[in-house]
Amino acid sequence: MQAEWDKITAHLPPSARVVVLTGAGVSEESGIPTFRDPQTGLWAQYDPMVLATAEAFARDPKLVWDWYEWRREARRNVQPNAGHRALAELAQNIPQFVLVTQNIDGLHRLAGSPEVIELHGNLQRNKCSRENVVIDRARARPTENGLLACPNCGALLRPDVVWFGEMLPREALSCAIGEAERCDVFFSVGTSAVVEPAASLPRLAKQYGAFLVEINPRETPISGMADATVHGKSGEVLPELMRQWRLRWLKQSGPGE
Ligand code: APR
Repeated sequence: MQAEWDKITAHLPPSARVVVLTGAGVSEESGIPTFRDPQTGLWAQYDPMVLATAEAFARDPKLVWDWYEWRREARRNVQPNAGHRALAELAQNIPQFVLVTQNIDGLHRLAGSPEVIELHGNLQRNKCSRENVVIDRARARPTENGLLACPNCGALLRPDVVWFGEMLPREALSCAIGEAERCDVFFSVGTSAVVEPAASLPRLAKQYGAFLVEINPRETPISGMADATVHGKSGEVLPELMRQWRLRWLKQSGPGE
């Protein structure tokens, strides 16, 4: 395994342009089930793929809203794990480090990552379902059946997250694409790499010459094209990556060396 670490850290001088794409796997060790894990408790009988859609919200806004309220409540007791913290530390040591996430849980920011490109939105934010503008919950108008309405136009609020079949936030996606095309090293961490367009980012980076690293306990559709693969939990692998990086690069940048 040391040879694999040496191969990876050799591509990570402090001057490297690094992009990290994360998925639900990096939050799994914080206790948030990955998107395709069976939902627990009350929601076990619902398929998230069905609930996380504009059609479901149009059909039964209260059901969908309550599901997100349950997820927000569950998220309140959740902390970032060692994997989130290792990525925040890596960003402090590599100036051209960009973190792109598919997660909506906000744990990267909570762990101290300075900038996070949130491709699929953020669970804690709401927006007007008609105007598509973010609305502060304090300004919303409660409705008689426990929902919230837009103070501007009266339409229902919905979570500011990307539902299946919806477009990603244009600026976030174009920024992520630009960074993937320019980077020297691209990490795909804790994602099944099947949901587009995020799943195209590692392929794009590879096509533009990046060194591609995958961190995942299981194989994914991009495992075959990765230049280095570390099979394991990100909460263990990412802190080890940080340790290996310090050994290789902080030592060499010591005084007078
Ligand atoms: N550490 C690293 N990876 C893990 C861990 C862990 N502890 N536990 C699970 N994984 C991996 C799984 O092997 C899987 O490849 O995380 C991945 C989770 O895959 P998904 O559940 O498909 O989550 P994700 O890839 O983020 O899904 C992408 O699709 O469901 C929609 O919008 C949702 O953002 C989500 C997107």
